[in-house]
Amino acid sequence: MRRILVTGALGQIGSELVPALRQRYGAESVVASDVRMPQAEDRVPAEGPFEYLDCVHIREIDAVVRRYEVDAVYHLAALLSAVAEERPRVAWEVNMGGLYRLLEVARQHGCAVFLPSSIGAFGPSTPKRATPQVTIQRPDTIYGITKLSGELLCDYYAKRFGIDTRGLRLPGLVSHRTPPGGGTTDYAVEIFHQALRYRHYTCFLRPDTCLDMMYMPDAIRAMMELMEADPSRLESRNAFNLAAMSFTPARLAEEIRVHLPDFELDFAIDPVRQAIADSWPDSVDDSAAREQWGWRPEWDLPAMTADMLEHLRPRLGRERPARAGD
Ligand SMILES: NC(=O)c1ccc[n+]([C@@H]2O[C@H](COP(=O)([O-])OP(=O)(O)OC[C@H]3O[C@@H](n4cnc5c(N)ncnc54)[C@H](O)[C@@H]3O)[C@@H](O)[C@H]2O)c1
Repeated sequence: MRRILVTGALGQIGSELVPALRQRYGAESVVASDVRMPQAEDRVPAEGPFEYLDCVHIREIDAVVRRYEVDAVYHLAALLSAVAEERPRVAWEVNMGGLYRLLEVARQHGCAVFLPSSIGAFGPSTPKRATPQVTIQRPDTIYGITKLSGELLCDYYAKRFGIDTRGLRLPGLVSHRTPPGGGTTDYAVEIFHQALRYRHYTCFLRPDTCLDMMYMPDAIRAMMELMEADPSRLESRNAFNLAAMSFTPARLAEEIRVHLPDFELDFAIDPVRQAIADSWPDSVDDSAAREQWGWRPEWDLPAMTADMLEHLRPRLGRERPARAGD
């Protein structure tokens, strides 16, 4: 990879992937882009090239790819699960329309493409435990439908046109740099902020909702390792199951209490996000990723919890403003 384009670069993943790519390949070799104008707190645009790019416009994608002679794209621009459920038409247009146009540009210029799929690409009839690499996929959310269709479309471009497409089914991601963008697993980030600020969090998922999760440093490393892997070994190229840890809100709260013993968790269930979570696996089998390109997670729940609190504590302080009822 000589010149890399990252779409949706100001989001939760992009704001950490871009600095990691720039460190590895050089700042000038990584072009960040987003449809959102950068704010003062966005570090990505100040650290290297940045372009305003709306992925539903093929001419805009084509112009950037030509100008920078891009040969690999990390295509992160998308609407996440909860936002997509509120705006299904826009979700289809961005998640599928954007991907289709990006693949067309990649086909014309011979670019490699990374596409993050998700555990959302599974569905209620998928086996919930040790979900196999190849299994039933009948998602019933618009997000899941676009993720599964994206996997298939990337497979098609690889087979039909020889485009080097690669992808991972990412679990819910936990990170401290940029807030999550409206997904079903956002609780696992919000809980840390609220724990430090108020020693209290009201969770929108039931206490026993078990989901696959991953700490952002593992996810960033996985994306970069996959794109550098020997292509001849990548049988499951666009849709590798990926796992690191699997936990419920109750278990995460227990781990936070190791550091903040007075932390309290209560619940106000959001039926939309609960239904989405209930349709996703509890834990996936990632043996294909381990075998085909040597995937190994480095972060577990205790290590991630300690690291999240350490990074957020200086920003969020130790104030505990009174809550109603205190
Ligand atoms: N964060 C997670 O937990 C998670 C888990 C699984 C998969 N994923 C996938 O990873 C990708 C990135 O996720 P994220 O968490 O960084 O999302 P995010 O919502 O934080 O960021 C997405 C970015 O895309 C941009 N965007 C939206 N529409 C666009 C358009 N038309 N053109 C260009 N940019 C546009 C947004 O402005 C935003 O900055 C998505 O495909 C998502 O489905 C994320």
